[in-house]
Amino acid sequence: MKLFSTETYKNRRNQLKKTLGNGQILFLGNNEAPMNYTDNTYRFRQDSSFLYFFGINLPGLSALIDIDKDEETIFGHEYTIEDIIWIGSQKTLRSLAEAVGINSTKSPSELKNAINVNALKYLPPYRFENKLFLAELLNISPSSLNPSIDLIKAVIAQRELKSEEEIEQMTIAVNITREMHISAMKAVKPNMMEYEVVAKIMETMHSHHAELSYPVIFSVNGQTLHNHYHGNKMLAGQIAINDSGCENDMMYAGDITRTIPVSGKFTSKQKEIYDTVLEMEVDSISSLKAGLAYRDVHISANRILLNNLKSIGLVNGDIEEMLNQGVGGLFMPHGLGHQIGLDVHDMEDLGENYVGYAEGQERSTKLGLKSLRMAKKLEAGHVITVEPGCYFIPELIQKYKSEGIFTEFVNYSKLEEYYDFGGIRIEDNVLITENGYQILGESIPKTAEEVEEVMNL
Ligand code: GLY
Ligand code: MN
Ligand code: MN
Repeated sequence: MKLFSTETYKNRRNQLKKTLGNGQILFLGNNEAPMNYTDNTYRFRQDSSFLYFFGINLPGLSALIDIDKDEETIFGHEYTIEDIIWIGSQKTLRSLAEAVGINSTKSPSELKNAINVNALKYLPPYRFENKLFLAELLNISPSSLNPSIDLIKAVIAQRELKSEEEIEQMTIAVNITREMHISAMKAVKPNMMEYEVVAKIMETMHSHHAELSYPVIFSVNGQTLHNHYHGNKMLAGQIAINDSGCENDMMYAGDITRTIPVSGKFTSKQKEIYDTVLEMEVDSISSLKAGLAYRDVHISANRILLNNLKSIGLVNGDIEEMLNQGVGGLFMPHGLGHQIGLDVHDMEDLGENYVGYAEGQERSTKLGLKSLRMAKKLEAGHVITVEPGCYFIPELIQKYKSEGIFTEFVNYSKLEEYYDFGGIRIEDNVLITENGYQILGESIPKTAEEVEEVMNL
């Protein structure tokens, strides 16, 4: 298990204690999750806030910070000889706790006595087991759980500004992710099955001792935004979206998308849309700076999209009016990006609006903009994804057409030529700096020519 320095964890907790001032804070780690019976589990994934403040990547732990008594305790079992027979010799919980600056470890059965329900703050649990555990601990029903908004805000304020050592880890994750993408580009050939390419992505990832930060999205049906089906034969002339990323051995995530022409060369019709998405991505990234609201970057990307679709003849009319009405959502029904860190959608368990929206900043209800997870002003230390796309979703287009939506703007008859087009998305991970931005990791083939070159090496 890799850890940052003892000081890092101490400083993080001290900052949190300073922000909250008094009371008790309870953090629940995750437990093993059974796949089909108790002893056959999914890959263990520690809770990210637990990792951030306590570092220990093991199941069955909780931690209590008592600000008033100035005590920090980790609750968990020490391994017994019965465990060691099955899992081998392990570091003691006590030594791991010391490595993250905590001198007190206790058995889980002692937690109940240690808490003061009137002063206790906790984050919203997202796993049912932890919901039940908390409800039982507090002697209330699961539906009466009442996470602390102050704690949520304090944790987000810390976790969202990445330190240099975190950026180092994220860069490692993106560089492994880069290799996953290059191996996919090199592998793709007409008549291969999608899962054969996914196997290459996984092989590259595992060769770096990394794991997925989310299930691989690899599909010739890229118009389906999160397509996890990998059973299609890829045909010459199609394009495949590869949205895949890893978390490295310190659990920091990468989240990259590239779009690949199956035959090794984009057709001119595909390239027209590809270059539109590329322009949206490159332009959005080059505009990034502290103080800019990311919602405005999303809207600017939509402006480029509509302008280009107008040149192609797929939409018509006043661009600003189309933006007002949300016409771009028909072609990009998702947001431009989200924060990324220990979670691929960082801290989404704490509430999307707390993470991505400023107090009082309203969330749109329009298709596309309503799915924007990061809308607030950028700050130095934020790491965000920039992931514009353009998709032709026949079911959505036909629904809008039949309901007479956007008929004054959208050339529905020409759009029929795009029903089998699929979708294009391009995604990078970007750090906001004092002076602008930095794309994390080494460059990943991105222009149509760069992608084609790698495919045809
Ligand atoms: N990988 C999912 C996303 O891009 O948000
Ligand atoms: Mn992605
Ligand atoms: Mn993403």
